Amino acid sequence: MNFISVLFIGDIIGNPGLEFTQTFLPSLIQKYKPDLVIANGENISDGKGCTEKEAKILFELGVKVITGGNHTWDKHQSQEYLKQDNRSLRPLNYPKGTHGNGYIVLEVKNTKVAVVNLQGRTFMTAIDCPFRTAEWVISKLKNETKIIIIDFHAEATAEKMALANFLDGKVSCIIGTHTHIQTSDERILPNGTGYITDVGMTGPYDSVIGMKTQAALNRFLYQTPQKYETAKDEVHLSGVYFTVDIQSGKTISIERIFFPEFEKTKNYQNVEISSTNR
Ligand SMILES: [Fe+2]
Ligand SMILES: [Fe+2]
Repeated sequence: MNFISVLFIGDIIGNPGLEFTQTFLPSLIQKYKPDLVIANGENISDGKGCTEKEAKILFELGVKVITGGNHTWDKHQSQEYLKQDNRSLRPLNYPKGTHGNGYIVLEVKNTKVAVVNLQGRTFMTAIDCPFRTAEWVISKLKNETKIIIIDFHAEATAEKMALANFLDGKVSCIIGTHTHIQTSDERILPNGTGYITDVGMTGPYDSVIGMKTQAALNRFLYQTPQKYETAKDEVHLSGVYFTVDIQSGKTISIERIFFPEFEKTKNYQNVEISSTNR
């Protein structure tokens, strides 16, 4: 069949996320046999960006493009690395003059495929307009390829849905990142654009979106800055697998991946009720 298949891995969080990816990505690749693997790496270097060290590990695993986000800028080493490697993206709509690339065109199965990284502005830094930046980059890419994949790194569901409707039929697939919690709304929009509001994180879920719970909780309780550290336990992998028709550039199928599933039932029959847990 005349399609390309893509596996997208959601925000990989620190060493726990990276180690889990090292352990399970090879079997996912074996299962899905994707033509292209993309991973969001904005939190892979202890929550703060992606340096050459982590990028090298991902590329050796078969990842072809690493996308970024607001945390790309947290560590100077990851910023330095961006200048050297065009396979590692940062959101395109940062102001002109910001270093790094916001998109890349790759050769996949003898077909050109563009991967674009954009960032939202609602409850986030006031960077350039993602909608108009998307229009600009699509007009630039459309003579080169019909297959355009977007990582839209944004906080607000409404902003993600608005961009998805704005671009439906103009790009192949829009994968939301940043919130670290997977949404169950993966689908194909009326004009053929594949979409999920958020792919979710690949990292420790015994946490507040990947960070140790107490510091995150203190931030809410005291409204003051806290020292954030990557949590360790209960690691899961989040991803999306989708296929795109080469001729039209439209999404044929989209499937959400979350591994392992959360426990949904518990047996309390052997738990003794005491005054402390009543
Ligand atoms: Fe993230
Ligand atoms: Fe983010």
